[in-house]
Amino acid sequence: MTSATQPSLAALVARTAERTTRVLDRRDGPYGEIVLRQRGESPDEVYEIIANGCFLMDTADGRSERLLVRAALDAAAVPRPAVLIGGLGAGFSLAEAAADPAPARITVLEREAAVVDWHSGPLARFSAGALDDPRTEVVAADLLDQLRGTTDHWDVVCLDIDNGPDWTVTDANGGLYGFAGLTVLQRVLAPSGVLAVWSAAPAPEFEERLRARFQQVRQLDVHVERGAPDVVYLASRVK
Ligand SMILES: C[S@@+](CC[C@H](N)C(=O)[O-])C[C@H]1O[C@@H](n2cnc3c(N)ncnc32)[C@H](O)[C@@H]1O
Repeated sequence: MTSATQPSLAALVARTAERTTRVLDRRDGPYGEIVLRQRGESPDEVYEIIANGCFLMDTADGRSERLLVRAALDAAAVPRPAVLIGGLGAGFSLAEAAADPAPARITVLEREAAVVDWHSGPLARFSAGALDDPRTEVVAADLLDQLRGTTDHWDVVCLDIDNGPDWTVTDANGGLYGFAGLTVLQRVLAPSGVLAVWSAAPAPEFEERLRARFQQVRQLDVHVERGAPDVVYLASRVK
């Protein structure tokens, strides 16, 4: 029983978690500060990535990050797809791709060296050895720069570099979700390619732009505790 003077169990749990949150690494770089935090204690600890002052993700769930890849692989038109994953983060998406024998190669574009380093430490269990998979190549580069300059093509392109098209970690990332960004993505997709984009909430204007450029667009929702669902947009058949 709780009273006006007694904190609820939920409040006590929240306060304890707050007390046990600590910074494991903090680095300054060209895209602002990047921080790895640990919330709670082993074996129930959760890791958090904060980039440029923006809470990017934690390791508490991972369902929607795995769905980003699972749904795109299930929709792939070729049996041995070349897969591009934008943003390593905690590695859930990469682990999902590498757990599947189908991908012929898996390219990961990650611009923060710190994030890659953390997979030799606290985040290793979430990527589950996928960085050492012979099919995996981690490219340390900005995704937008890299895609604008490449002549390469992928059958499956899975993007999760922001909290979504309407909530980007740096302003320049916003260029990915406009028509100019979609033109670049259409160019790097193989003719029968599938594009998957993650968002922390529905992004109706982005969906409209996808519908203007792709014949088939689907929205997959993953219900989460905080309210708005995590969303995966799946787009295929370039117009
Ligand atoms: C939300 S996390 C990715 C989560 C990932 N899907 C997972 O399963 O854990 C976003 C990642 O994208 C990276 N990132 C952000 N902007 C980027 C960009 N323009 N180019 C490459 N990587 C970027 C961040 O450093 C971060 O590691």
